[in-house]
Amino acid sequence: MRTQVGIVGAGPAGLLLSHLLALRGIDSVVVEIRSREYCEARQRAGVLEDGSVRLLREAGLAGRLDREGLEHGGIYLNFAGERHHLDFRDLAGGRTVTVYGQTEVVKDLIARRLADGGQLEFEVSGTAVASLDTNAPLLSYTAADGTRREITCDVIAGCDGFHGICRPAIPAGLRTVKERDYPYAWLGILAEVPPSSDELVYAHHPDGFALHSLRSMQVSKLYLQVDHDACVEDWPEQRIWGALQERFALPGWRLHEGPALDIAITPMRSFVSAPMRYGRLFLAGDASHIVPPTGAKGLNLAIADVTVLADALEALLLRGDERLADAYSGTCLARVWRATHFSWWMTTMLHRTPGADPMEAALQLSQLRYVTTSRAAAVTLAENYVGYPPLR
Ligand code: FAD
Ligand code: PHB
Repeated sequence: MRTQVGIVGAGPAGLLLSHLLALRGIDSVVVEIRSREYCEARQRAGVLEDGSVRLLREAGLAGRLDREGLEHGGIYLNFAGERHHLDFRDLAGGRTVTVYGQTEVVKDLIARRLADGGQLEFEVSGTAVASLDTNAPLLSYTAADGTRREITCDVIAGCDGFHGICRPAIPAGLRTVKERDYPYAWLGILAEVPPSSDELVYAHHPDGFALHSLRSMQVSKLYLQVDHDACVEDWPEQRIWGALQERFALPGWRLHEGPALDIAITPMRSFVSAPMRYGRLFLAGDASHIVPPTGAKGLNLAIADVTVLADALEALLLRGDERLADAYSGTCLARVWRATHFSWWMTTMLHRTPGADPMEAALQLSQLRYVTTSRAAAVTLAENYVGYPPLR
């Protein structure tokens, strides 16, 4: 078998890359270890930067996003028993974010690839990549029907997330990793209850961070800082709602409660592996970098990476021009590091570090006061949140 681009992973990065390449007349095969149903149900991100929305629109993928996505022009910051609004339209030149679940992005992408005759192979096993330093890299896997297949490609795109096989296929001496684990985790609860606020609420509280987000006008998504070794069994629903009520408490306001649809715990990590290319292997999205979710950046970085990669592969494969491919890693890493810094900054400003001295909370509150009283500081938060640098 032969294809131009072998894509490992049917998350947002792999699926969108396959679509962007098809628009350019480049064929690809996407292989994925999970089932279609699993990929479509995996609960993750919810916030799209304005550049991500525009990119999806330009790529003809925004029919449902434009109907069902909820545009948000700001966020609230809660601290010291107060609530402050940051108005992104005013602070970030009219730019906004859109709440639209990653589950919906993935459903739209899978439906479109299949409608366009794209080759997606779900439930594969034993994925392997080889001959990456040649012009004919090999992608092999066992298909769902048990047959072993080998595809000769021009390029392989490693879009297989943090636990995938592509990043480790780069010789260890040729890549550098910078990483930080945070001493806490997020418990996320998806609940069948209308949102209690017109904007997302990021709350600083002596007990720890909390976030109010949503998926629709009927479904809320809430997050709670928990110990890094916490497990879902430690957190019966009643305890979750009690902690959320406490951390969001404001006079005259109450959080609506409703039945849980999903509860999960996510570790908090910053991780960047560089470079994002080795020979004819290009990494994109979580396969190469992870940010803690406090800045809502992970999905947006995956979209930005494959936008750059599609242009680079068009130049390389259709015109034999290597320049954009050579620049790929550096171009992406500039945005990745901006998002890594922003996500670290939001995280450390809003979370309680176990065992921290009283100085920490005082410094955090001073920073939060600055962000909500200085236009310069508010602009910094806003322009990073809606996406910096703006995606073309
Ligand atoms: P993934 O979505 O991880 O996809 C990789 C795919 O590769 C998977 O389907 C996997 O099954 C497959 N795969 C793995 N190994 C193999 C293999 N060997 N062979 C074949 N396939 C393989 N980001 C935001 O931008 N905004 C947010 O609000 C936000 N909130 C988040 C909240 C939570 C709780 C979490 C966990 C994440 C959040 N993120 C957010 C991050 C975002 O979800 C990820 O950054 C995003 O999923 C990255 O997409 P990806 O395609 O690179 O990787
Ligand atoms: C979400 O809706 O899942 C979400 C929103 C904002 C974040 C992280 C996650 O910062």
